[in-house]
Amino acid sequence: MQPKSLETLVVKLNPDDPVPELIALAGDMLRAGELVAFPTETVYGLGANAMESRAVQQIFDAKQRPANDPVIVHLAQQDQLEQVAVDVPPLAYMLAERFWPGALTLVLRKHANVPSVVTAGQDTVAVRIPSHPLALRLIEEAGTPVAAPSANRFSRPSPTSAQHVLADLNGVVSLVIDGGAATIGVESTIINLMGDRPVVLRPGGVPLEALREIIPDLDFSPRYVDMDDVAPSPGTLIKHYSPEADVLVFQGETAAVYQAMHDTLMQYLQEGVRVGVLARDDEISLFSRPDVVLHELGHDEATVAANLFDGIRALDEARVSVILVRAPKRTGLGLAIWDRLVRAAEGQVIEVD
Ligand code: TXA
Ligand code: MG
Repeated sequence: MQPKSLETLVVKLNPDDPVPELIALAGDMLRAGELVAFPTETVYGLGANAMESRAVQQIFDAKQRPANDPVIVHLAQQDQLEQVAVDVPPLAYMLAERFWPGALTLVLRKHANVPSVVTAGQDTVAVRIPSHPLALRLIEEAGTPVAAPSANRFSRPSPTSAQHVLADLNGVVSLVIDGGAATIGVESTIINLMGDRPVVLRPGGVPLEALREIIPDLDFSPRYVDMDDVAPSPGTLIKHYSPEADVLVFQGETAAVYQAMHDTLMQYLQEGVRVGVLARDDEISLFSRPDVVLHELGHDEATVAANLFDGIRALDEARVSVILVRAPKRTGLGLAIWDRLVRAAEGQVIEVD
């Protein structure tokens, strides 16, 4: 169902000192069943009262998200956990102790009170406590767990600013809280604790290395699937982050990768194709040409993660047909960046020797 058009209100709030009346208003709106987009430390979320199926259904309508893709439930405090989950294993509390508030989502046994629209009919529920002060204040004010996927239209890059949210959802969300750019820039790490052993469903803001301090043998085996296949886990859809442009991810030894990227670039330019490059600071001089649209990602993993989705959106807006990028190392935040790039490339990585 297409959502009807409404007037989207945008309020800019200082994360460290938000106007109390405005946060209270946002909380009221959530309680009343309306959609409120808000900043988190990972990406912006599209929030609704998690305990009201009518409210949550609007998230799916607004995003045009398939009904089989469950959403994450956000809490302000750990004692809310028992409202949404049952049979919480000791490992969940250990992880919560160490990583909440923060960019870690735990998949747990669902409480009967959580509407099935939230979990796409599954008997598990994904939960996290975000660390962004505005997110925490908002969830506290709402006085209820808040269901929130990323605040983008389905299969668009996740939003890391209020402008990104408006570009996708203006007229379908009641309120957008503008709290500035998301600091981490990639979504939370998701771990399923309901199987025989913990499984990483999505690498994200908390690196696996940090999680291994508590789960030493934790691993991530990418299982990307095609849109047409039946998804083993909904979040593994390969088209999830696809921009309009084709994304070419180059992987391999440094000199060979840059040679291959350069050759590919020249080939496209000769064919009159408009090309964009996502470049780290030390790569800019290699690709800087008047006929190439360059987007700077920064100098280290943290800044690359923070700039990644903005870069993909910016290159799409610049109407490039192809985006070239070097695959990052798959360590630390690099694994989450790698995962998002490979999905944007629809699984195609160019291996260079
Ligand atoms: O950082 C984040 O996680 C952001 C912010 C807003 O918190 N949220 C986010 O939500 O990325 P979303 O909906 O874009 O991604 C949530 C992922 C989906 O891929 C979904 O399939 C998975 O979580 N998920 C949700 N509930 C699940 C469940 N019960 N079992 C397995 N996967 C689940
Ligand atoms: Mg998303």
